[in-house]
Amino acid sequence: MRFVLKEIQPVKNMKKKNKFYVTTAIDYPSGKPHIGHAYEKILADVIARWHRAKGREVFLLTGTDEHGQKIEKYASCAGKSPQEFVDEMTGEFIKLCRVLNISNDDFIRTTQSRHIDVCERIFKKALEKGDIYRGKYEGFYCIDCESFYLERDIAGGNCPVHGKKVDWVEEDGYFFKMSRYQQAVLDHILNCDDFIQPKVRRNEVINRIKEGVKDLSVSRSNFSWGIRLPNDNDHVIFVWFDALINYVSALGWPDSEKFNFFWPADMHLIGKDILWFHAMVWPAILLSAEIALPKAVYAHGFINFDGEKISKSKGITIDPLELARKYGADSLRYFLLREVSFGEDGNFSESSLIRRINSDLANDLGNLVHRSVTMAEKYFSGIIPSAFTGNLEQSLIALADNLSENVDNQMIVYNFSQALANIWEVINAVNKFIEDTKPWVLFKEKREDDLRGFIFIIFHCINRIKENLYPFMPQTAQNIGFQIGQERVKKGTPLFPRIEDVD
Ligand code: ME8
Ligand code: MG
Repeated sequence: MRFVLKEIQPVKNMKKKNKFYVTTAIDYPSGKPHIGHAYEKILADVIARWHRAKGREVFLLTGTDEHGQKIEKYASCAGKSPQEFVDEMTGEFIKLCRVLNISNDDFIRTTQSRHIDVCERIFKKALEKGDIYRGKYEGFYCIDCESFYLERDIAGGNCPVHGKKVDWVEEDGYFFKMSRYQQAVLDHILNCDDFIQPKVRRNEVINRIKEGVKDLSVSRSNFSWGIRLPNDNDHVIFVWFDALINYVSALGWPDSEKFNFFWPADMHLIGKDILWFHAMVWPAILLSAEIALPKAVYAHGFINFDGEKISKSKGITIDPLELARKYGADSLRYFLLREVSFGEDGNFSESSLIRRINSDLANDLGNLVHRSVTMAEKYFSGIIPSAFTGNLEQSLIALADNLSENVDNQMIVYNFSQALANIWEVINAVNKFIEDTKPWVLFKEKREDDLRGFIFIIFHCINRIKENLYPFMPQTAQNIGFQIGQERVKKGTPLFPRIEDVD
């Protein structure tokens, strides 16, 4: 049966609003946050800050996925009640957002009543529509993924994501008629080129849907940490059905002003391992609930650590909170955005982080700001001329003035690495200009007009650099602002001290 709902409107027909609703996955607080969690939040934050800088009304949502068997298991290992355990762990995720300067507008926890209420209502709606039926489920299950796997996906009986043994599970429970929405979801994907990004992922999903979509087992009775089924107290709602709903519960579905304004989401930013849940399961739930579909699902790659043995004794750490404390949030943000191509996997190692800090941040950017402010103080008592004077070459000004457009062009296609490369092109050009112009010679020869023009040019450029840097490195942009944004420029502590202990 073809199932077509009026609610699915192609994006083009919607009244264009100047808003952007971006979400991250909600993390399992089954342990402390790792660098993959940090990476995703940083990506979402850059996108949010960039859209805000473009004058859009932005809502950035993140949070934690607190129910399910996995959480129950880790809580019991820690000797705590699930609630006690998630309260403690979620604190670490909130801290991570703060330490990394994530500008999230809300933080949703699936144990909050505002979420539980919405989840129950959407489940009831599915029941009323005849989308839920009783049946028996069985298959290979990975608790860490909270997901079933097909036999062909579990090489040697291990989960493809975690490499841990999967369990054979057989139980009576309830099913969600996902197959009913298979064609509608496929049509939506085929009609909207950008619904699933990047392109390779889109093709994977299309092929998988074409192979046939099975109904989803949406209840569990072999443990109890979850939202009770409204129609059967012996079962809890499957954690993925529960979790996905956070994207609308956080906005106050169905009739809040916030929901009406921000929904549909403009971008669900997630990792590649959970694409199926966002590209097939979530749209099916939304169709069942008669809610409009999101505009885009973007699956980013994984951060791996193979480049280096993780060894505590060598002081190597992959705890993002510790990394941010040790090197600064902006250094970590810069490294991940510059080094990893968005959509692809990337590698993290502390030594390559240190290399980037010393070369790009301390040498190129930090040094530029430091020497420029020093010269302005020495030659003009910190007062930057308001107009160009003298006879120096001015082409650098045009280069810096083009930066914003170049960065925007990269941001539209989410090419963060290239956007940063464009900014560094200008940074390096200004550094070269300083070396070529030799201001100390102008000073010695008392060519005051030229020296004034020189200072004008370099500060004009630093201002452009600072503005464009802001979404990527907000704290650094602010620190540069403190040094150069006052009536008189004023030297601060170096933006990025060199890290000396590199092997
Ligand atoms: O999947 N590199 O939570 P999660 C990059 N609760 N990203 C990574 C990563 C890595 N090494 N490891 C994980 C869940 N991620 C569910 C989501 S959404 C309604 C529910 C990403 O804590 C992962 O792909 O296992 C996901 O997007 C996010 O971190 C949370 O993973
Ligand atoms: Mg995971």
